[in-house]
Amino acid sequence: MPDPAFVDKLNEQIGYEFGASQQYVAAAVYYDGETLPRLAAFFYAQALEERNHAMMMVQYLLDADADIVIPGTQPPRSSFGDIVEPVRVALEQEKRVTGQINALAALAREHSDYSSEQFMQWFIKEQVEEVASMSDLLRVVERSRDNPMFAEDFLAREDPGEEGDDPTAPAAAGGAL
Ligand SMILES: [Fe+2]
Ligand SMILES: [Fe+2]
Repeated sequence: MPDPAFVDKLNEQIGYEFGASQQYVAAAVYYDGETLPRLAAFFYAQALEERNHAMMMVQYLLDADADIVIPGTQPPRSSFGDIVEPVRVALEQEKRVTGQINALAALAREHSDYSSEQFMQWFIKEQVEEVASMSDLLRVVERSRDNPMFAEDFLAREDPGEEGDDPTAPAAAGGAL
């Protein structure tokens, strides 16, 4: 049985992951409206990944027979001044989530809840990757302020965030994407 304090915080985190998903839908829709389809596709895909993170946490709590209360989310930022802003918002969000994930791992350890600590390890690795790829993308869109096609070409070539199947990923409630 996971530690009750951990269960509470993980339920909260489910809301933050859904919130991240909504933020990425908002970014994708902004880019779609600006006819920047690669940037839009990148954020639509990230939105699904965040939803999947939430559903992995749901599955963990289901498996542990713990209480699950699906939380609501804060409304995302959906108006942006330029093509840089959605990525800046996204990077801030990823850094904030990294802090939350690390705090969850620390809480599990503090309560000697080793299965929960182990469950968090995949998310720790995932956050390192997501902060890195969002930092790269921020540099690219900053350089593309006057020429958004530069960012579009970069995404067409590099396909950042494209990870393929990860056999170490935790199972998600409702099945994989
Ligand atoms: Fe996430
Ligand atoms: Fe993320």
